[in-house]
Amino acid sequence: MAVAFYPGSFDPFHLGHLDVVEQAVALFGDLVIGVMHNPDKDSSMFTADERAELIRQSVTHLGKKVCVEKFVGLTVDAAAKIEASLIVKSARSGADFDIEQQMAQMNHAASGVETVLLFSRPEHSYISSRYIRQFTLSGGTIKTPMVTAPVQQALLAKHNKGAKS
Ligand code: PNS
Repeated sequence: MAVAFYPGSFDPFHLGHLDVVEQAVALFGDLVIGVMHNPDKDSSMFTADERAELIRQSVTHLGKKVCVEKFVGLTVDAAAKIEASLIVKSARSGADFDIEQQMAQMNHAASGVETVLLFSRPEHSYISSRYIRQFTLSGGTIKTPMVTAPVQQALLAKHNKGAKS
């Protein structure tokens, strides 16, 4: 079976991401989740190490089919390094689709790697890391489950820390 590479910021990993991970494992067998790490500017909420660890804790039910690695630089180089057969991405909307199409075409033109777009179930399609970050960092709470239990705990810790400072 193929090895698929699913790159992203995952700040934080949410149920839409998990949905795509589960679909990719069912379709392709083995999946490497690549957590983008920019050494000059770490993420606005969790560090790359924290993001990777939260994903590992969120995908334990998938066993050895999934592994999580950090990467620096280009997605196509990270995909080539692990000898991935394809890149997995997802799009929630037309706006996402336009960006993903351009990145997929650019990555293909640059390296020949194909990108497969997967769509989360509709109940997850509004979930966005950016808005989860905004709510959490502004001290807001989210009633509807949008993230896995380990991520929820980490968000709660951020929320409580923010409330104290
Ligand atoms: O979860 P995100 O933030 O939408 O992920 C975007 C990501 C990390 C997949 C994208 O920014 C990316 O591929 N970054 C690595 C740099 C790169 O390869 N740039 C060229 C894209 S055509």
